[in-house]
Amino acid sequence: MKLLFVLGKGGVGKTTLSAAIAKKYARNFRTLVVSLDPAHNLGDVLEKKLSTKPKKIDENLYASEVDLDEAVKDYIGELQRTLKHVYRYLTVINLEKYFDVLKHYPGVEESALLETIRKLVKKEDYDVIIFDTPPTGLTIRILILIEMTLIWLRELIEIRKKILDRRRAIEKIQGEMCVVINGEKFDIPTSEEKDAVIKEMRQYQAEINDLVLKLRNKDISRFVAVLNPEQLSYLETKRIVESLRNINLELDCMILNKYVENEMSRKIVEEFSNLRIYTVPRLERVRGIEVLENIATFIGDI
Ligand SMILES: Nc1ncnc2c1ncn2[C@@H]1O[C@H](COP(=O)(O)OP(=O)(O)OP(=O)(O)O)[C@@H](O)[C@H]1O
Ligand SMILES: [Mg+2]
Repeated sequence: MKLLFVLGKGGVGKTTLSAAIAKKYARNFRTLVVSLDPAHNLGDVLEKKLSTKPKKIDENLYASEVDLDEAVKDYIGELQRTLKHVYRYLTVINLEKYFDVLKHYPGVEESALLETIRKLVKKEDYDVIIFDTPPTGLTIRILILIEMTLIWLRELIEIRKKILDRRRAIEKIQGEMCVVINGEKFDIPTSEEKDAVIKEMRQYQAEINDLVLKLRNKDISRFVAVLNPEQLSYLETKRIVESLRNINLELDCMILNKYVENEMSRKIVEEFSNLRIYTVPRLERVRGIEVLENIATFIGDI
């Protein structure tokens, strides 16, 4: 399995190149190109109407545009189901109104997109997945969130273990523990084996861990920056390199798109000489599957 993350400043050609890279991989592999950018234009580039559910575009080539609102709704829905499953007594308390407010919470979009990525990767439906990413800030926040989630889970599991310890101590003195809400009796778990909360956390920890291992594995995940030979996209690319480095990830390759021979092109090639750089010229036509096939010829291995 291969995961390619295409990053870059707005308008540099991320979507066009994501689609072209997908076309290239689809020659030999079952490939999905998925747009995580809330302002989608992948469908325009492929000249197909797209939605969250992957659509077959060509032999071996599938594409989708993740609907962010839908992703947030799914994420909160699942959160709700999980909470009700692990805290059974919540089913008798009306929590709907709290969950409704959650969708406006800061960080929810990042969490929802993280879940979208995690599920796609876990399913293993495709040999290659190309992520056309949202603006850099959001992309980096999602990547940071993955690490943060692991730290949080580690801490929360420790706290939960302590809670269970205390409960066992109380159980020894008072006997079996339960809670009565609206006349209904619910048992309170006192051991890890019986505790749905810790089970849920451990399972999620294993899944996020698996994603982190995949992101850190150079044979699986690659980070690609698209840029143009002009100052602003060059500066953004430097920030991308820096931000990835801060979370111990590395840019693997660059695509200098809308290439022209100028001072900036020379500077970029010189400054990033440690990276593979592919150049794609400014083209007349940039839409449709045949054109993407042509653009793909400018790109080597990623
Ligand atoms: N090699 C190229 N030659 C000419 N035009 C190009 C080339 N690559 C991309 N374009 C054009 O540049 C514009 C931006 O491209 P694209 O939508 O792929 O960029 P993006 O980085 O995904 O933008 P956004 O940040 O808005 O999602 C589009 O009009 C596209 O057709
Ligand atoms: Mg785009």
